[in-house]
Amino acid sequence: MSKKKIAVFISGRGSNFKAILNEINKGTINGSIELVISDNPDAKGLLYARDNDIECAVFKKSKDCSRSDYFDKIISTLRARDIDLILLAGFMKVLSGNIVRAYRNRVLNIHPALLPSFPGEQAQKQALEYGVKFSGCTVHIVDESVDTGPIVLQEAVPVLDDDTEEILSDRILEREHIIYSRAVKLLCDDKLSITGRRVFIK
Ligand code: GAR
Repeated sequence: MSKKKIAVFISGRGSNFKAILNEINKGTINGSIELVISDNPDAKGLLYARDNDIECAVFKKSKDCSRSDYFDKIISTLRARDIDLILLAGFMKVLSGNIVRAYRNRVLNIHPALLPSFPGEQAQKQALEYGVKFSGCTVHIVDESVDTGPIVLQEAVPVLDDDTEEILSDRILEREHIIYSRAVKLLCDDKLSITGRRVFIK
């Protein structure tokens, strides 16, 4: 099976990107990161990508550019490089319908909560404020809405009485790195089958 060509989308630190790249470099994932895309020129993860000789492309969205036009430019860049899979790793823009359709079932996202609880921004803060005793992380396939696509993998972590948002986020992040890499490996090995909302591991 040929290696899948991957584009990772980031907006900030890029620790999930690093964790996945690390697994690729160890030979565990049958894929290669061809491109890192960011909406933020100052994203720290871009420095790491450049240090690892991975091509980076920054797409800043201007106010007069529609979301659909913005993502059309990104689609052209992806197609020019024959990208097979997109990984959202802390990418803080909602994908438009055109890119979801162009890469149907080939876009993954990591979210720092047990979906469908606490979608959207500040998921860890939402979990603390709600008072749940467990939260965690979810890898899901991206569909046209926000954090609603079929769930690939989830892992729970406890929420402890003296947790701050930062402490809980760190506990979740450690598990994110593990389940995201695992899900990417499954996708690259063509081991995921999707029936309706349910994702099965073949
Ligand atoms: C991660 O916690 C990820 O789950 C979250 O942003 C962080 C990015 O960290 N994503 C979302 O909240 C998406 N809704 P990273 O840049 O170090 O990978």
